[in-house]
Amino acid sequence: MCGIVGYIGTQAATDILLAGLEKLEYRGYDSAGIATVWEGEVNCVRAKGKLHNLRSKLEQIEAPAQIGIGHTRWATHGKPEEYNAHPHLDTAKRVAVVQNGIIENYRDLREELKAKGHQFVSETDTEVIPHLIAEFLKNISPSSSSSPFLEAVRQAVNHLHGAFAIAVISADYPDELIVVRQQAPLVIGFGQGEFFCASDTPAIVAYTRAVLPLENGEIARLTPLGVEIYNFAGDRLKKQPRLLNFNPAMVEKQGFKHFMLKEIHEQPGVVRASLDAYFNPAESTESPINLGLPADLYNDLEQIQILACGTSWHAALIGKYLIEQLAEISTQVHYASEYRYAPSPVTANTLIIGVTQSGETADTLAALTMEKERRQGREPKYQARLLGITNRPESSLGHLVPHVISTLAGIEIGVAATKTFTAQLMAFYALALDLAARRQTVSKDTLDKIINGLRQIPKEIEATLESQERLTEQLAHEFAETQDFIFVGRGINFPIALEGALKLKEISYIHAEGYPAGEMKHGPIALLDAKVPVVAIAIPGSVYEKVISNAQEAKARDSRLIGVTPVNDGEAAEIFNDLLPISHVEELLSPILTVVPLQLLAYHIAARRGLDVDQPRNLAKSVTVE
Ligand code: F6R
Repeated sequence: MCGIVGYIGTQAATDILLAGLEKLEYRGYDSAGIATVWEGEVNCVRAKGKLHNLRSKLEQIEAPAQIGIGHTRWATHGKPEEYNAHPHLDTAKRVAVVQNGIIENYRDLREELKAKGHQFVSETDTEVIPHLIAEFLKNISPSSSSSPFLEAVRQAVNHLHGAFAIAVISADYPDELIVVRQQAPLVIGFGQGEFFCASDTPAIVAYTRAVLPLENGEIARLTPLGVEIYNFAGDRLKKQPRLLNFNPAMVEKQGFKHFMLKEIHEQPGVVRASLDAYFNPAESTESPINLGLPADLYNDLEQIQILACGTSWHAALIGKYLIEQLAEISTQVHYASEYRYAPSPVTANTLIIGVTQSGETADTLAALTMEKERRQGREPKYQARLLGITNRPESSLGHLVPHVISTLAGIEIGVAATKTFTAQLMAFYALALDLAARRQTVSKDTLDKIINGLRQIPKEIEATLESQERLTEQLAHEFAETQDFIFVGRGINFPIALEGALKLKEISYIHAEGYPAGEMKHGPIALLDAKVPVVAIAIPGSVYEKVISNAQEAKARDSRLIGVTPVNDGEAAEIFNDLLPISHVEELLSPILTVVPLQLLAYHIAARRGLDVDQPRNLAKSVTVE
């Protein structure tokens, strides 16, 4: 997590760094800071809390420097206090560093550096980096290298273990900004006589569209004259920037009170974009779906393992349901953070899918890397067949796996995933149907019916949004003081119960649990009373009657029952205290609709409680630590 940004050029660096940090705040917002070089000194200003605290501090300071680095932090090592905020400096305050990631061997390095007289003032892992660079700088004679600063950073990063992206400036080298990528994202932006770096493109897209994402193990030296790229061994590399296709409106709220609300409303468009992209078959194929994946990825498939975290894990559970029911392939879904330490036995002809909207989740990347490594050198049928599903194909995931299904959500700023979840569901519908078509496990008529049903979904989400916006807002008023919520669903809607509970927890800080409705009677029902509302997802189909019975059991314990259902008849009115009606929809397609009222409910409860919906406490958009 954490966001880093850097600038070198002819404009005032501070304004550009602050504007960049604002666009990166979704990556962490415990504290922020910037360092610039001006009149032979490093000037470092940091503040605890959100960026506006740093901004207020900087208002009182004259800031003409034309080089600088900035950071917005999600605390890993050390509390979110100002003394732990980045940038960090060496003892002589000549070198300043910002980092995103984790330095695993920082304790050993800190002890070695302390023994050499370096003084540490923070609890962070990052602080060893400026000290290490300063230590190497002492031993490099200016005549031995065209850039002693670059050489010192290069030597230092060769001593670091972990996953990190860093940006470094020095009072003694005022025309050089050095940046490094090792398993954490970093992109360089090319302007006219000015250059940028950032953890993510929204931070620099207001200034340039010409970008170069660094690869792992690369160092770049940015000067007002240009950019040089090297590997960790010091060899110069030749690389060209590419033009970014980016619409700045994506990162504005466009009249919505919060990004999350805007992103919930963007879901019909996300489904349309996915339909256009995936359900657009190449001529003369046996499948009506075109995911651009090679046939050998599908050949002789016996098993699928899906690795993911959080909301992506919920999407994966729906993916499992679809793949097993439509394509008849046994599928397991694992928390990536658990799988890494207790993997399933290596099985033959297995497709391994990593699902991560950010493409940067450390747990998911680590689990995929482990799977790749443990299958290396085995006979062909055991070798890793890796597929990623991500909203950021240019991310670390994109580098790690040979094949990617790009989800088409556009950039998501709200920390709580909404439209990226819907986009992941669309990728799973396409994948499951593609597999089913190739394996002929469903008839052509069934396939056509499902695809036609999917084509109706955008306008059904629109109708749901229209009818639910007011309903959920009104309902939210009644739950502003509620302390516990239960969400229940069955079958394909059980993961939606989990997702509804997660959305509510993370943005409203209300305790919530999702259960398969049939499991309530095996324990959780003991929690129920008039103070614990139950949201039941009840869609006509294979489990409707069962969900209704389970809901009635909850009502008998005085719980207030909220129904997410297309059934709006007398019986439903009698059972449910409140109805969040959705359009009539096939059970198999219903999760794309049932999630919408739950997102809105969570949103309105959090907004009603006056909470920071887009940046909930303790969270960050991309979780780049394990
Ligand atoms: C929930 C949420 C998180 C993420 C999780 C995985 O709203 O955003 O639970 O889903 O951190 O993130 P990705 O999908 O980027 O791997």
